[in-house]
Parts: sequence; C-alpha cells; structure tokens
Amino acid sequence: KIPPASLIFIFGGSGDLNYRKLSPALYNLFIDEWMPEKFGIVGIGRSPYNDEDYRQRLLNGIRQFSRRKEDSYGHWDEFSKHVTYLQMDAEKEGDYQKIAEVVKAKEAEMGEHPNVIFYLSVAPQLMPDIAKKLGALQLCSETSTTRIVIEKPFGHDLKSAHELNQLLMGMFKEEQIYRIDHYLGKESVQNILSLRFANALFEPIWNRHYIDYVQITASETVGVEGRGGYYEQSGALRDMVQNHILQLMCMIAMEAPVSFDANEIRNKKVDVLKAIRKISKEEVNQVAVRGQYGEGWMKGEKVPGYKQEKSVNPNSAVETFAAVKFYIDNWRWQDVPFYVRTGKRMNQKSTSITIQFKTAPSYAFPPEAAETWRANRLTISIQPEMEVKLRFQSKRAGQSMTLSPVDMIFNPKDGENEPEAYETLLLDVMEGNATLFMRADQVEAAWKIVMPILETWESRPPAGFPNYTPDSWGPEDAEALIARDGHNWITMPPVK
Ligand code: BG6
Repeated sequence: KIPPASLIFIFGGSGDLNYRKLSPALYNLFIDEWMPEKFGIVGIGRSPYNDEDYRQRLLNGIRQFSRRKEDSYGHWDEFSKHVTYLQMDAEKEGDYQKIAEVVKAKEAEMGEHPNVIFYLSVAPQLMPDIAKKLGALQLCSETSTTRIVIEKPFGHDLKSAHELNQLLMGMFKEEQIYRIDHYLGKESVQNILSLRFANALFEPIWNRHYIDYVQITASETVGVEGRGGYYEQSGALRDMVQNHILQLMCMIAMEAPVSFDANEIRNKKVDVLKAIRKISKEEVNQVAVRGQYGEGWMKGEKVPGYKQEKSVNPNSAVETFAAVKFYIDNWRWQDVPFYVRTGKRMNQKSTSITIQFKTAPSYAFPPEAAETWRANRLTISIQPEMEVKLRFQSKRAGQSMTLSPVDMIFNPKDGENEPEAYETLLLDVMEGNATLFMRADQVEAAWKIVMPILETWESRPPAGFPNYTPDSWGPEDAEALIARDGHNWITMPPVK
C-alpha cells in the first residue's frame, strides 16, 4: 500500500548515513513507485548548501552506493524536485521555527497535512536535546502524525537508554517513536520468520530436544573506517551484540506470533530477551571473550592496527571483537548454548546463523559408513547473500554403504531487485508500521543482558591487546570458549 503524504526531515542531512544509505533508499523507493504521491525530503545540517548543490551531493552518493544507479528514465530529475535543504543549528532553539515554517509551506503546497517524520541521524549526545526541541514544536494535527526515527546507538548503557526513553516518551507516544536496528530491515532477516512460521517442517524440531546448539557469526573485513571517535565510545559488544546480534537471536528463539501485529511480534521477542540467563560478573571470563586487531595484512594489503586508527587512543582497551555464550532459560531452549561472535578485520564479510541438530538417536549403518557421518545442520546466511542450507546424509553411489553429507540449498540470487534494509524501514515509517523497530522495553532488556559484561570489561583492562591479526577469525580465546564444550566455530565458505 502506498503511504500517505509524508514530509521527511533528516537531521544529519549532510552526514554519511544519509549519503550512503538514506537517500539511495528513498530514491529506490521512488523508482519502485513506493513513495507517496505527495512527499518532501528536507535535509537539515549546519553546512551551507543551496538546494541544487545539496541535490548534487546526494546524487553523488547514489552513484556510489545505491544498488541501482541513476537511470536514464528521468527518475532522478523527478525525484530531486522533492528534495530541499534547510541550513540550521540543531542546538539553537530559535532555529526550530524554520522547521515549523517549512511544514506550513509544504502543507500549503500539498493541499493537505502530511505526516511529518524526523529522522535523527546525528551524534548520540545531540539526540536528547533535538528530541526535546522537536517535541516542543507541537506539530501534530488532527489529520497527521509526527514520527521520530532514532538511529543507533540508542544510549550508551542501560541507564542512558532508559533516560532517553523517558525523555522521548515525555514528548511522543510510543507509536510515534521508531528506534532503528537496520538488521531487522534486511530481507534475509525477515525471511527467518517465513522459514520458521510458514513451514510446518521446522517448528516441531525447533527446540532443546532436537537442537544441540546455535551459532551466530557477524564478521566484517573492514576496520573502523574513520569512525574511530565513535568506536572508542562503543566497542564490538555495544556496536553489534547489544542490538543486531541479540535481535537475530530473538528471531531464531521467539515463539510463534499469533498475528503480524507490531506489538505481538515485539512481545514475543521481548520474552526471549527476558529469558536470556543473566551472566554474573564472576562468570564473565568463562562466557565472554574480547579481542582487538593489531596491524597486519588484509587480502594482500597492509592495514593498521586498531590502536593506530585515526581518533583512537594509542593505548585503547576497546574491543573490536566479542564472542559470548548465552543460554535462554525457557521450556524451548533450556541448556541449548547460543554462541555468538562478531568482529572487525576478520577473514570474511558474512553474517550467518547455524542451527546444529543433535545426532540421530541410533545408528544402524556399518562402521565404515560412520566415518563421514555428520548430524543435520541448518545454516541461514544473512549476508553477503541470503541463502538457506540444510545438510543431511546421503548414500554415495557405489556398491559399499558409504555415507556423506550433502547440502540442499535455497539461494534466491535476487541481487539488484532485493530491497535494502533502509528501503524497507523507511517505507514502514511512512506507513506507520513499527513491527521492525525496537520498542522501549526491547532496547532496555537488551542492555540489561550485556551490562555485566561491559562493566566487568571496563573494570578490568584487557591483557595482551592486540590479540588477533587482520584476516583471521579473531583471538584464540574465542576458539577456546567453544572448544571447552567440544564444538568449533563454523566458518562459512563465501557464497558464490
Ligand atoms: C552498524 C555498526 O550498526 O552495523 C557498524 O555500527 C557495522 O560498525 C554495521 O559495520 C554492519 O552492518 P552491515 O549491514 O554491513 O552488516
């Protein structure tokens, strides 16, 4: 369904996220005819641009980063007419009247009250102040809604996340607040729900009786990419585990929703977060591993260590790799370990989830057949490409009873036609569908889970950082974490 008339203000309009992700996403929605009939996009920033220069900047971003380049059908010319720039200082109260004026002018132009969307793609310390000033503008009318979209990081810890929630909820209703976790917008992540709940095949065995353990790996080859300033305040646990990885865990572990209602799905996810076993500070060393990359070689190219990156403290104790073993204390998952790991400067860019099934209860084949025998395994690859792979045993052709594992693979290879996460999420904001966004209690429950690890790590400086080389699979301690339970990390061969 095409969304109603919308006016989108992007704070951080001249910033990197807008350049690489938001504008390309809105442009692709336009090409695919998903944008409202009447819409306006207003980039907000301190830099002095006129509308024309600003549009040109966005076009450069699209040329570099969009899944589809500017086309020859005149889409860009048409789209860019809806884009304007508003120079203002988001810290100055007086400047907010400029927004009210733009809203008025756009209403007159559109001949109706559009939904007004504020996308906050700004440094986390600016968010509370901007939200307060926007709340004070009171732009809601009877026929339209104001929505506020908050980019991550959502808070720095449980306390600051709670305070930000309190502040936002003092200004806006929960249904007006859209907290982004872009992993939830990925096609392949949404596909987990269809795999689990649109097939009768998996659900009966999706529990502690049949599943031995679950693994989630989100590895990246990049370093901190000029984001040293941000990353020094963050680290891998805050940057990836508190949000993206715990959300993937929720998708795998949640109970079947009764409907596709936003709150119903989010309730089911919160149940998972609440059931994750609390890690005591004493056991942090047994269940969590941190790492930091040193200098070395990445695919034939010399790369600096984390401590040598721009805006990073040369004695930094910030982790660029984290691995954690979680348990979920409920009837479905009791005693099934969930091993998760994530890191920068690793051997591959890939995110995947492995569901390792238990071995068959009894084994009637001759001993020589057993040599290559493996338990069933379902691998869900989130990126670089969506792929679902089920490993099972098969007889090798020949006179002897020799078995070998084979893979059944589903790979839609949709490439260019696959909408990017931000396309899906921006469309949902315009439509007013919050299913794929984080609710206040979800964010806080996720912070609660990682706090003991963060606090323990912050109070005990790491010994021996850097402890892994670029182009590897992280520190040796991470291997030990899983080897203690008799398992290995499963590394994916790159999807062809
Ligand atoms: C972001 C993190 O949320 O996710 C980045 O802040 C990380 O550090 C990125 O690189 C990974 O996203 P994706 O979609 O490339 O896996």
